[in-house]
Amino acid sequence: MEFKETASGLLNEALDFLSDLRLRMSVEGFMKKLLQAALVLVPGFDMGSVIMEDKDGSYRYVAWTGFKEDLSQVKIPPDRVLIPKGRNPVVIERIYEWDNEFLSGEELKVLKSAGTNRIRKTIAVGINVEGRIVGGFFLDSSLDIEPTEGDLKIVKVFARIASIFATMKLYQERERGYQREIILAMVKAMEARDPYTVGHSERVAKYAVTLAKEIGFSEKDIDRIFWGSMVHDIGKLAVPEHILLKPSRLSPSEFEIIRRHPVVGEEMIKEYPWLEGIRSIVRNHHERWDGKGYPDKLKGDQIPPEVRVVSMADAFDAMTSDRAYRKGISLPEALREIKKQEGKQFDPDVVKEALNVLPEVYKEIYIFQISS
Ligand SMILES: [Fe+2]
Ligand SMILES: [Fe+2]
Repeated sequence: MEFKETASGLLNEALDFLSDLRLRMSVEGFMKKLLQAALVLVPGFDMGSVIMEDKDGSYRYVAWTGFKEDLSQVKIPPDRVLIPKGRNPVVIERIYEWDNEFLSGEELKVLKSAGTNRIRKTIAVGINVEGRIVGGFFLDSSLDIEPTEGDLKIVKVFARIASIFATMKLYQERERGYQREIILAMVKAMEARDPYTVGHSERVAKYAVTLAKEIGFSEKDIDRIFWGSMVHDIGKLAVPEHILLKPSRLSPSEFEIIRRHPVVGEEMIKEYPWLEGIRSIVRNHHERWDGKGYPDKLKGDQIPPEVRVVSMADAFDAMTSDRAYRKGISLPEALREIKKQEGKQFDPDVVKEALNVLPEVYKEIYIFQISS
């Protein structure tokens, strides 16, 4: 009776784990939870690991439990990896003997000191994506016990969950790739309508990313700054060509239409969940530090830091490149203008970095363009 209670308690715990699994989790986080839940359900098995194929074709440990070492740096060449081919789990005796035979050097050393020598029995099964093995799911026991049919079934189910997750991740990545191409094509289409803005988004991205790196933004923020820069003017697709290309002064109503592009742009990217983090860059890249910008008249710290960086990069490129209605100004003139706008149009902290960073990138862009 007591055993039953414990077993059902463990089962509940495992089910809690499982209900907590989400596609948004990293592969590492997901597999770790899966492994822990499987160990709860298969008695006598106290260690486990999940290996997955890496981009270079070798296999790496994405999750492990019960080992004494960090296995994240252990890489196994594809011709040395031991994963059963079929969909059914296989029981392997003393798996470390395989390691001793096929692995060497640092890899073997880490695995040994992690305690693989203690393993007596392993239940191993492959992780499949679109019919191809891309990983392995392993439960290990330091006891010399024979897993039951039930144990093997549980492991099979868990490997299946791992396979589904890996497949979904692949689809997610593919879809993201398509979406990126769609977005970049839209940016190209937008720029193509106005010969003066060809390359603008890409240059803004270059200025902004370099500036962000110098200021010390995190990698994640820099990624957002890159995409935000690429996409920031996408709302200009909705501006009629006769306004966009007008060489003379715009009327107030025409000006108003142009000024709508940040809001229209935000509207356009709303349907892409992965662009959620850059909405503010698109919507607010024409705000000013002194609150006199548009569309929300944000002021100072109300403007998110990544937006301030893109605004600076955008303004700098706008100043230094030709437009339908005026010629671009020289680098020294642009730098003087930035200095003049410190605390007015621009965040003073960003200005400080911009004066150092932007000339370098400017030279890189234009020297490269001339010589290529
Ligand atoms: Fe803009
Ligand atoms: Fe722009």
